Amino acid sequence: VSVRAPPTLTDGVLQLDAFTSADVDAHLAGEDGEHARRFGWWPASSTTDTVGHAFGRWERDWAIDGPTRAFAARIGGDLVGGCELRQRSKGQYVLAYWVHPPHRRKGYATRIAALATTYAMQELGASSVELQIEPDNVGSLRVAEKNGYQAVGETIEHTDAGTRRLMLVYRRTRP
Ligand SMILES: CC(C)(COP(=O)(O)OP(=O)(O)OC[C@H]1O[C@@H](n2cnc3c(N)ncnc32)[C@H](O)[C@@H]1OP(=O)(O)O)[C@@H](O)C(=O)NCCC(=O)NCCS
Repeated sequence: VSVRAPPTLTDGVLQLDAFTSADVDAHLAGEDGEHARRFGWWPASSTTDTVGHAFGRWERDWAIDGPTRAFAARIGGDLVGGCELRQRSKGQYVLAYWVHPPHRRKGYATRIAALATTYAMQELGASSVELQIEPDNVGSLRVAEKNGYQAVGETIEHTDAGTRRLMLVYRRTRP
């Protein structure tokens, strides 16, 4: 088991690095109803406590080589979103990403997915990365297509809000 420190990844425009406690307020402020719906906890919303818990888990997982690899996404130092790679089984990861409302439709999710997918395949040894996307999440479907992900099927998600919903599964396989 290798212990990994969070790296800094960049494409020259957007930077991915570790969340820190200084990001809690901006992360919380960046969650709107759309975000809460897509991640399955709406009508609940995140709180300082739940964000603190998530940040603690992400930090611990980096330190102990746990199942998640979370990244803060920054443009010129400002937090604009983030992503989480979650290991499902050996060589298989699921990627989720989000962009704060004022920063959407600028190509940032496309950049986040590109950096995170390359990182998973080159540094974590992922043979495949999957996305689970609601059929009406047009923006996320475009992010998948633009990053070379292909539709491979469907899955039922059990949400934090206690509902079940159909998700489309997209996969990119390491060449
Ligand atoms: C989905 C989400 C991540 C997209 O982020 P983004 O930074 O706006 O995406 P991009 O700017 O990279 O857009 C990628 C493409 O989708 C299009 N797009 C983005 N949002 C769209 C929308 N709401 N409706 C239609 N098209 C949209 C963009 O125009 C772009 O297409 P183009 O390159 O053909 O012009 C963002 O809306 C979000 O955080 N939503 C809430 C959380 C979420 O849904 N996460 C994904 C879970 S699977």
